[in-house]
Amino acid sequence: MESIILVGFMGSGKTIVSAVLGEKLSCPVIDTDVAIEEKHKKKIPAIFQMEGEKVFRTYESDILFNLPKEDAIIATGGGIVKSEQNRVWLRKHGTVVHLHTSWEETVKRLASDTDRPLWNNEMDQKCALYKERQPLYEEVSDFTVTTNGKTPESIAKEIIALIK
Ligand code: S3P
Repeated sequence: MESIILVGFMGSGKTIVSAVLGEKLSCPVIDTDVAIEEKHKKKIPAIFQMEGEKVFRTYESDILFNLPKEDAIIATGGGIVKSEQNRVWLRKHGTVVHLHTSWEETVKRLASDTDRPLWNNEMDQKCALYKERQPLYEEVSDFTVTTNGKTPESIAKEIIALIK
């Protein structure tokens, strides 16, 4: 099986859905954010604060380009689609699924989040980022699955039905 790569905005459920998919399909799960933290021995907010977003993006691409192309479930960071080079890679590798969550639902889910540096901005900046990213997720994905009002279990089942 081609690896399944989940893309989508912060709070769309990539991490939890990847865990359910990994269990259902008996595949290893890789979370690019976790892989970056493990490799660089720093939490993401610390990388943003000490090295800046530009450096974080180079770490992210480095992880992306070395992901297994077969038999893995991959949860990506919401900004993975920012780089054109990353988008080219994503279009060529794996089955890419966009987890789409409405803006209103995203705001609800991340209401008390303090761990995401780019969610620490003003609401209009975050909304602009959300709008800017949507066409990029669509550009790289083979399928889009909406997540509003659905459980991770039902989203995972939907994805499995789509890839069969
Ligand atoms: C980011 C999303 C985060 C993480 C970093 C940057 C983004 O991942 O990679 O904080 O640019 O949208 P999640 O989408 O898992 O929150």
